Amino acid sequence: MIWATLPRPFLVLAPLEGVADTVFRRIVASCAKPDVFVTEFTSADGFCSPGRTAVKNNFLFTSEESPIIAQIWGKNPDTIYETSKVAAGMGFSGIDINMGCPDRNVMAHGGGGRMIDTPDLAKAAIAAIKEGIKDSGILIPVSVKTRIGTKKIVTESWVSFLLEQQIDALTVHGRTVAELSKVPAHWDEIGKVVAIRDRMNVATVIIGNGDVKDAADAREKHATYGVDGVMIGRGIFQNPWAFDTAARPHVGTPMELIDVMERHVRLFNEVWGGRKNYAILKKFYKIYINGFRGATDWRVRAMATNSADEALALIRELRASDDILTA
Ligand SMILES: Cc1cc2nc3c(=O)[nH]c(=O)nc-3n(C[C@H](O)[C@H](O)[C@H](O)COP(=O)(O)O)c2cc1C
Repeated sequence: MIWATLPRPFLVLAPLEGVADTVFRRIVASCAKPDVFVTEFTSADGFCSPGRTAVKNNFLFTSEESPIIAQIWGKNPDTIYETSKVAAGMGFSGIDINMGCPDRNVMAHGGGGRMIDTPDLAKAAIAAIKEGIKDSGILIPVSVKTRIGTKKIVTESWVSFLLEQQIDALTVHGRTVAELSKVPAHWDEIGKVVAIRDRMNVATVIIGNGDVKDAADAREKHATYGVDGVMIGRGIFQNPWAFDTAARPHVGTPMELIDVMERHVRLFNEVWGGRKNYAILKKFYKIYINGFRGATDWRVRAMATNSADEALALIRELRASDDILTA
């Protein structure tokens, strides 16, 4: 069982829809590897529908991203069962269900954060995952990723309910659904989750999430709030070496960041080629083109590129310029 065997605190790369696909996860691993990866969330209804190719792209992974958890969302026990059964056979180290996503479309379909208001559906969804896993014959753990309420903070009642469902791990993003990411994460509430788990005397592993910068910050959160693991999402956009466990995580030089950008462009092209739109890559460029004279102008030029080849040509030009040496 993966959760029990990890170091304390262990570090998880957050599920990031539209961002942390197999390509970006491999890029993160090439800088500093987290202990656990999670796929982008995948609709169980979509996975079970005939046109499921795009959805199945979410479940692509390689050994460089191991161990990896499949994240699903939905409210329909039949499709959740089926998706879990298939995913268990694909080599994932666990199945996670999203019960915190604030996306309007997801909420309107009764999934994500809506589950906090519909505990009966949440219970049925968890039971369906367990059934699917059991029937696959490959016993992997079940986890939930959630928030601390929809409009109001309801940590005590919601988390107690979830822990009664005997899940193996619980990730708590310390904000309500309504708070989106607009207020600082309530880490005191995450601390409460650990206390509730201890009081209930269950073995569920608790992962805290929200505003954690890097591995050093994660160690502090572990020491202060007692979480077993820490999940980092947007911190990776500030520093691709966020998972570096050195006393002070590595910060890339402008040239190192450009090296990462080149790897990313090449791998994206190799893996997705014509299958994913090149424009998706552009949202990463602000991570990589940074910290030297004229970086803003180079970024503007990168945003105007229309293909991987154009991006690689720009990288060559940037490497040959003096600007990159002026950090
Ligand atoms: C672009 C983006 C995509 C996200 N996609 C997902 C997702 O697919 N599943 C999920 O559970 N959370 C998703 N989240 C939420 C993050 O996993 C995480 O809970 C949130 O960003 C807070 O952590 P952070 O402060 O470390 O970023 C997403 C967040 C962002 C910014």
